[in-house]
Amino acid sequence: MPVSDSMISALIELKRADDAGLVAQLTGQLRNLIATGHLGKGHALPSSRRLADDLGVSRNTVTYAFEQLAAEGYLAASHGRRPVVTADGGAPGDGVGADVSGARPAKPHLSPWASKLKQTDWPMSYQAPLKPLRPGHGDAREFPNEIWARCLRRSAVHAARRELGPVNRTRLCEVLAHYLATSRGVRATEGQILILPSAQAALTLIAAALITPGDDVWVEDPGYPGAAAAFRASGARVTGMRLDEQGMQRMPGLTAPKLIFMTPSHQHPTGRLMSLARRTEFLRASRPGKTWIVEDDYDGEFHYDSRPVPALQGLDAHGRVFYVGTFSKAMTSDIRLGYLVVPPALVNTFEIAQRHIGLIASSHVQEALAEFIADGHFLAHLRRMRRLYHARRDHLVGELERLLGEIFSVEVPSGGIQLVARLKRGRGDQAAVRRLAEAGVVTRAVSSLSLGKPRDHGLLLGFAAWRESEISAALRTMASCF
Ligand SMILES: Cc1ncc(COP(=O)(O)O)c(C=O)c1O
Repeated sequence: MPVSDSMISALIELKRADDAGLVAQLTGQLRNLIATGHLGKGHALPSSRRLADDLGVSRNTVTYAFEQLAAEGYLAASHGRRPVVTADGGAPGDGVGADVSGARPAKPHLSPWASKLKQTDWPMSYQAPLKPLRPGHGDAREFPNEIWARCLRRSAVHAARRELGPVNRTRLCEVLAHYLATSRGVRATEGQILILPSAQAALTLIAAALITPGDDVWVEDPGYPGAAAAFRASGARVTGMRLDEQGMQRMPGLTAPKLIFMTPSHQHPTGRLMSLARRTEFLRASRPGKTWIVEDDYDGEFHYDSRPVPALQGLDAHGRVFYVGTFSKAMTSDIRLGYLVVPPALVNTFEIAQRHIGLIASSHVQEALAEFIADGHFLAHLRRMRRLYHARRDHLVGELERLLGEIFSVEVPSGGIQLVARLKRGRGDQAAVRRLAEAGVVTRAVSSLSLGKPRDHGLLLGFAAWRESEISAALRTMASCF
């Protein structure tokens, strides 16, 4: 029922301490009453003097609100007359404007994509505080911020002089094509490289462009939950493939899927390196144009015990492999830059899809990074971090054996930024994670990274981001908890 004249002031509630000024509050609330149909077309509002008295505000406050609503087309206000509502609002409770009826908002009907996203606990499960021994990070404290700041500054200063090319075709593509060829054995022209805000953006783009609901996707089990979540949300049937010492295995009897996601350089979370035989087996099993492989090389820059093993993408002669990378681990996670090397046949489709979804990274930051890499700062930083992280890995392994050797067995990864400490007895890794978090040590339960019934129980521990003294202190706390 429309609101009577005398009820208007009762429906308006102004908060003096509110950040929004009184005029803004009054304008907004009157606008809502009109938009929701509580004040219908033709309804005469109280005079500014009367409303100001009722609300205990100055007359100017009310006059300004009326003027604003008149300018927006909600009211006709003329001097000496009560303003009249001119806009046709909806019926009360029909959902136009804010609801002042007090009714509970209706449950939104989400798309299948958003509904499926809500069924996973990723990324919530990855949002623990940044404290020792949280996995998944390099040490941001070691990043050469002064040099990076100079690159950023030069990029901004030169912005006006840069030629405006197609969106996202910056010098970074060219520099990255050279870096990936020489350091990771990736075979790609710069035209195949899309710069994105993250590796996760690359996975979402691949899922959006390739997955039809019902398609089969294979992932590693245990594996990276962000990938499973992205493919599931697009409607894929995601199946986890067990690991052995050579990495992901092909389960016998399954027909080839639409897509296989893998982390062959350092399997996430175990850090295992996929053998050459296994890489070849997967490549043979993926028919060109039918089965795609997505290689996520999230921390492939960090190898400690031997020369880095080249990317699987470099072995592919038929354009079946997407290669995904990120600067989140090699630089800092807040740099928000990743990339996707797209098979030649799909470059055009992916460029269009990227533009539609709007997953474009800032060209200022891209230019700064191109300079950072071209001038040798990136490789210098990697060299320094390799030495540092290598020592931290060895320190963590030594301390784990010394202080917690009875409880955990450690599989020492040949590279990467984290390792798995397996529980020798028992299966309570999730309870252990909770207990340790209360004591101030952040870890991740390996069983939570499985799609089905977990076989492995243990803790994923980060070593790259933490100083040796921090690692020792965290392990002493762990020892006192077990
Ligand atoms: C295996 C793996 N891939 C991708 C990512 C995501 O990287 P980005 O921050 O660039 O999305 C992570 C982050 O933890 C990861 O562990």
